[in-house]
Amino acid sequence: MSEILLLSGPNLDQLGSRDPSQYGTQTLAEHVARLTDAVRAVGHDLRHVQSNHEGDLIEAVHEARARSAAIIINAGALTHVSWALADALALFEGPAVEVHLSNPAAREPYRHTSTLAGVVDGSIAGFRALSYDLALEAVLRLLG
Ligand code: DQA
Repeated sequence: MSEILLLSGPNLDQLGSRDPSQYGTQTLAEHVARLTDAVRAVGHDLRHVQSNHEGDLIEAVHEARARSAAIIINAGALTHVSWALADALALFEGPAVEVHLSNPAAREPYRHTSTLAGVVDGSIAGFRALSYDLALEAVLRLLG
C-alpha cells in the first residue's frame, strides 16, 4: 500500500461557500472523502493536509519525501507566487500533479502563471470537482 498526499493550500478550507461559480459547491471535506474512497478502492491510502500557511505546505512536501509515493497539490493562490513551494516540490522524487478546480488561464492575469508547473509531472485545471478525479487518475497511472 502506498500513501498519496493531497495538499490543499490557502482558502480551500472555504470551499462550499467560496465563489461557487468558480469552485463549485462541494466542500473540501467532500472532495477528500470522494478521493479517499477512490484511493482505497485501488489499495492505496490518502493523506490530506490543508493549510493557509506557506511554510506548513513546504514542510508537508518535505515529509512526503520520506513517506508518500505521490503528491496531488492544489496550492490555491500560492500557485502563482510561491517559488519556495516550487523548490520544495522539485525535491520530491515521485509523481506530482497540480490541480485546480477553476481554469486559472481563463481568469485574471495574475493567475496565468504557475510557479509549480515546471516542477510537477502535469497540471489539470478547469473541470471543477472532476479536476480532482482526473488528477487522481493521472497519479495512479504514473504510479503504475
Ligand atoms: C485555485 C485557483 C487559484 O487561482 C485560486 O487562488 C485558488 C483556487 C483553483 O482550485 O481553481 O485558491 O487553485
